[in-house]
Amino acid sequence: MKHIRKAVIPAAGMGTRFLPATKAIPKEMLPIVNKPSIQLIIEEAAASGIEEVILITGRGKNEIEDHFDVHPQLEESLRRSGKEALLREVVTPSQLVTLSTVRQQRPLGLGHAILCARHLIGNEPFAVFLPDDLVDAQKPCAAQLIDVFQRTGKSVIALMDVPREETSQYGIAAGKFSPEDPRCLNIETLIEKPASRDAPSTMGVVGRYILDPRIFEYLTRTNPGRGDEIQLTDALAAMAEADGLVGYLFEGERFDAGDVAGYLLANLNWARKVPRLWRTVQQYVRSHQTDAG
Ligand code: G1P
Repeated sequence: MKHIRKAVIPAAGMGTRFLPATKAIPKEMLPIVNKPSIQLIIEEAAASGIEEVILITGRGKNEIEDHFDVHPQLEESLRRSGKEALLREVVTPSQLVTLSTVRQQRPLGLGHAILCARHLIGNEPFAVFLPDDLVDAQKPCAAQLIDVFQRTGKSVIALMDVPREETSQYGIAAGKFSPEDPRCLNIETLIEKPASRDAPSTMGVVGRYILDPRIFEYLTRTNPGRGDEIQLTDALAAMAEADGLVGYLFEGERFDAGDVAGYLLANLNWARKVPRLWRTVQQYVRSHQTDAG
């Protein structure tokens, strides 16, 4: 059974949906409660057995690397003042995984971003995490996909049922559900962001993928597609036809942290896990329930 040790996290996007907040701060550093959202992603990766993360970045993303590095001065000051709990919070990010970064020098699309990691992945299967997609699940979403990869030997992508009027925001997959596992879809068709009238189903792709390294071959042969960008979805569609591709309806709740409303909901979801915070939110909602909206 092939162990999945490496993951690619494309984080080169400009975060225009969050301007002006992202004028000088990478969107991946915006907090969910008290952690940058990218930390939740890397925690999910580590909890799924990932040891090495390759971050695809661009200009203005250095804070992400700093966050996952040690900070001797701050650590020493917290140690000296006996703030052990805070010290643990500060040290944890640097211990989760080994991080390398590759710069994507031109914004040629998600498929191109993945291709930038080829020399560091080599010839082994790997995971891809899109950092806008936060998933709260009992068993990490990536770990669920890794199980399916190990069972089927095929590349696996996360799916969720989306409202038909939203198909143009997702890769959409169609095929036949497996008789052995009703959550597994043997993908026959995969289309990037189809209009609702053209969508072959409402099975939307969520940003977690376990990929056979052959994907790099497909990516090098993929022409620019939607938005004139090299789309990972198009390379996966070619792979589905030739080698097979499994979609997995994962268990858990997904938040689109790349969108202001989704980001607020993600904050509420993670605040719910801190009783003191959650009581404050509930009090606030109760006292504003009659406000016009
Ligand atoms: C990307 C993928 C798309 C997928 C989505 C999930 O699109 O291209 O297939 O459904 O992530 O979040 P993006 O939202 O980055 O444009």
